[in-house]
Amino acid sequence: MKTTLSIIKADVGGFPGHASVHPELVKKAREELEIAKKREDIKDYYVAHCGDDLDLIMTHTKGVDNETVHKLAWDTFVACTNVAKKMKLYGAGQDLLSDTFSGNVKGMGPGSAEIEFEERKSEPVICFLMDKTEPGAFNLPVFKMFGDPFSTAGLVIDETMHAGFSFEVYDTKENKKVVMNTPEETYDLLALIGGKSRYVIKRVYPRGGKVSSDEAVACVSTDKLSKIAGKYVGKDDPVAMVRCQSGLPAVGEALEPWSFPHLVSGWMRGSHNGPLMPCAMDDAVPSRFDGPPRVVALGFQVADGMLGMPLDFFKDKAFDRTRRESLAVADYIRRHGPFEPHRLPLEEMEYTTMPKVLQKLKDRFEPA
Ligand code: F6R
Ligand code: MG
Ligand code: MG
Repeated sequence: MKTTLSIIKADVGGFPGHASVHPELVKKAREELEIAKKREDIKDYYVAHCGDDLDLIMTHTKGVDNETVHKLAWDTFVACTNVAKKMKLYGAGQDLLSDTFSGNVKGMGPGSAEIEFEERKSEPVICFLMDKTEPGAFNLPVFKMFGDPFSTAGLVIDETMHAGFSFEVYDTKENKKVVMNTPEETYDLLALIGGKSRYVIKRVYPRGGKVSSDEAVACVSTDKLSKIAGKYVGKDDPVAMVRCQSGLPAVGEALEPWSFPHLVSGWMRGSHNGPLMPCAMDDAVPSRFDGPPRVVALGFQVADGMLGMPLDFFKDKAFDRTRRESLAVADYIRRHGPFEPHRLPLEEMEYTTMPKVLQKLKDRFEPA
């Protein structure tokens, strides 16, 4: 029996503002998922959070895009929204873009990343949760894990990784996808995914080794909230999972790329570039300028469909220096105020007064 790992996430109310998830929401989500576990709709769950996003990590045997599981997540978010509304939490229910559930959370506001796999003898998985940024924030670290021999030693010295990996890349503008193979197509792949606001890594597949080449070993949520809603409703705040070890990146190779606090878009009003700061789940409370953007990494040893308890990886002091560096970068880039490249290019900004400003100046513009 194959195991499915699903992370379904939504922001259903912030505490205070867009800073964190109130403990009452976490409690409510746990209650709902506990009932579902007893009903055997899911095998196991862990309720996590990053900034103002509530992340439901669930295991089951129903496969990806399963209606029961998606409805469970939806109903859980609705139940949490009701709590959030009572408490007047900020933006209560903001990611639930419809009044009724229609089979799958895709296109309805919440984000999802799911993989189905044959459990190996031992199955270490890391769930990555982000806040105040977009799916393209995963491009650089996921590429490094599976495609950069200077980051992942196994690509060079582990025979079972030598064949490389296949990257499924989504063109979020044209709604198309392409599969590209590394190492031979590395430069072409980077040409695409370097444009992270449009091209995003969706899944990674192995090309040799012990895991079947049709089983995804990494998956990123790529739902574009702004497109779905047709207006700004917040950055996507993506999640992802990565399977590790035995022919896949070692746990430490899946964590190594995060030692670089790379610049991602999001942060204040979803309209600024800033450094991605890895931190412990309880430290993922974006404060300064609503940030800087955060990433949390929870490690699990999946066993017979059970998640067990997580290890909160970025608690480790080994990431202290990255955090300090990200704060130095935050100081530097903040000094640009409203200027690019701190502020996003016009077409990528989630908030803009530009049409109104141009309208006001319409009659005052003259040939230069
Ligand atoms: C970014 C984010 C926040 C808000 C900001 C303004 O993703 O959620 O930075 O954009 O706090 O929020 P409103 O417009 O709700 O006052
Ligand atoms: Mg929010
Ligand atoms: Mg958020």
